[in-house]
Amino acid sequence: MVMKIDEPDKLIAANKGGTIIFGQNNDCVIAASDPAAFEPFAIKKKRILGDNEIAVISAEGWEIFKEAKTEEEDFFSAKSDIGDFLFFMEKEIFEQPKIFSNTIAGRFIFEQGLPRLDGIEDFARELRNVKNFHFVGCGTAYNACRYAALLFNRFGIAARAWIASEFCYSHPVFDPTDAFVFISQSGETADTIEVINEIKIKGNICLGIVNVPGSRIWRETDAGIGIRAGKEKGVASTKAFTSQLATIVMLAVFLARQRKMTIDTGQRIINELKKIPDKIEIILRDADRIKELAKKYACFRNYYFLGRYFHSVTADEGSLKLKEISYVHAEGYPLGEMKHGPLALIEPDFCSVVIIPDDPIFKKGIVNIHEIKGRNGTVLAITDKKKGISPADDTINIPTTIDYLSPILTTIPTQLFAYYMALEFGCNPDKPRNLAKTVTVN
Ligand code: M6R
Repeated sequence: MVMKIDEPDKLIAANKGGTIIFGQNNDCVIAASDPAAFEPFAIKKKRILGDNEIAVISAEGWEIFKEAKTEEEDFFSAKSDIGDFLFFMEKEIFEQPKIFSNTIAGRFIFEQGLPRLDGIEDFARELRNVKNFHFVGCGTAYNACRYAALLFNRFGIAARAWIASEFCYSHPVFDPTDAFVFISQSGETADTIEVINEIKIKGNICLGIVNVPGSRIWRETDAGIGIRAGKEKGVASTKAFTSQLATIVMLAVFLARQRKMTIDTGQRIINELKKIPDKIEIILRDADRIKELAKKYACFRNYYFLGRYFHSVTADEGSLKLKEISYVHAEGYPLGEMKHGPLALIEPDFCSVVIIPDDPIFKKGIVNIHEIKGRNGTVLAITDKKKGISPADDTINIPTTIDYLSPILTTIPTQLFAYYMALEFGCNPDKPRNLAKTVTVN
């Protein structure tokens, strides 16, 4: 709340994610964050100041002004200058610390170890009783869906991920009480919208995790959470992906807190999420080294991206980035699957990017790296293990975090690697051939 020296009889109140209530009786106006404060007064009129509302209060009452800009206006009016960057993709990779902070800003009630997700508040009670969640998306958004399913399962909530373009034709089995969550950067992807239309016929709850405010998926889902990544211009999705992961974590913690997760676990995750922007910054400081590695590795035309558990998702995302902007053949695989077939392709000029953080399955991953090295394969490792990965040819180090948050970090070097590889091959990473930023056909 603010008072102006030249208008001492007025008080200006603004609400961004908090609780402000006005009460009026015959003599005065009271502003409080808890209605209990009104008890001693004979309050005749009350008003809750909504999110993004601004009010001018005097002894006679209050006047409410809606905030000048809505989220949608903010999004579309934001400048998207390329600044000193060569390409938008580079800019979007490097702005991730700021964007990530923006995604989580004002979205926690720390004392309760609870994310505060205004967009789904009205559905909170219904969501409490949902036993199964289905995440639906395409491309990078589908990879975010897979991360969501693993994280929900990790927190004891049943969930699965669907490729939108496959959903309607694969006879999906689900219960009327299941909830669907549609993930999309653009909010206009035709394949995803097709599934929304199908689910609307069935009548399940539809939530959205969307970047572009006012887009079709934003509008057509029952409720949702904006990821606040700002305009993403590069065809390859980068900052939207990390903001999607942040949003998924907040949603997962919100739902897990409704179930069995304790306050202190919620608080620990919130604390760790707040440290992520600095940790992304640390990885970005290593960009020159990753650029050098891209020069060194540009001789390879075939890549596996490998990882276990959460990192089989970041492996797929890394391979998608590399193939779409540098036209190099890349496949993502769960690291433990190598021995069931893919190892056959390994030879000295086949490169494996192995994402292997120091987590409970680290040792198994090391065995798998030995299997690749034993076939004379080349290995570029991404790890938070301080001493590096000894059988690997090169190692990219990243900071440590909670194991299920580490995909947010391990994805950054793969974005940089793909970007610098594209430059090595003289490709324009912002406009890869044959692709569109928004896929409005199915
Ligand atoms: O706008 P959406 O998130 O729905 O788009 C989904 C995919 O088309 C998109 O993620 C695509 O895979 C990206 N080009 C990958 O970088």
